[in-house]
Amino acid sequence: MKETFTKGMARNIYYGGSLFFLLLFFALSFDTVSELPDRDNRQAINESVTLGKKVWEVNNCIGCHTLLGEGAYFAPELGNVVKRYGSKAAVKAFIMSRPKDGVPGRRSMPQFNLSEEELQGVADFLEYVGGVNTENWPPNIQG
Ligand code: HEC
Repeated sequence: MKETFTKGMARNIYYGGSLFFLLLFFALSFDTVSELPDRDNRQAINESVTLGKKVWEVNNCIGCHTLLGEGAYFAPELGNVVKRYGSKAAVKAFIMSRPKDGVPGRRSMPQFNLSEEELQGVADFLEYVGGVNTENWPPNIQG
């Protein structure tokens, strides 16, 4: 074997390495895309969940809250709120009970005046999100 490291060898390492990692990148991307649907909580999706997602978007809940870590850090994470509160009824009661003008002295959760159907939808939507397989994230129940 020759002792010198030639330009040709360097080029082969460059092209070979690029190709190898490109293929690895595609393989892992493919794996991720095919794994994700199984992590979803699809069987829970129904009309009420769909309505709840719409209510969630129209009222910009994400402008204050995070959902599975995404969103604003002003108000609590809601991906696990149904578990934390113990029931959807408790979550609905919280949303309904917000004072009309907010808690005096600070910015707090507003009153959205949702209809019973919308309220149920939001609760169902939050329960659905809670059922997504997040590999046990967040690591603690407060998260
Ligand atoms: C202006 C910011 C803001 C918006 C918008 C907002 N929230 Fe909140 N929310 C809060 C704050 C702040 C709290 C914490 C309790 C408090 O201070 O009122 C809270 C608490 C909650 C809780 C109880 C969470 C817990 O862990 O105690 C739920 C459930 C909730 N919000 C649902 C919603 C839903 C559903 C929407 C959209 C329809 C929404 N929030 C929009 C600010 C907001």
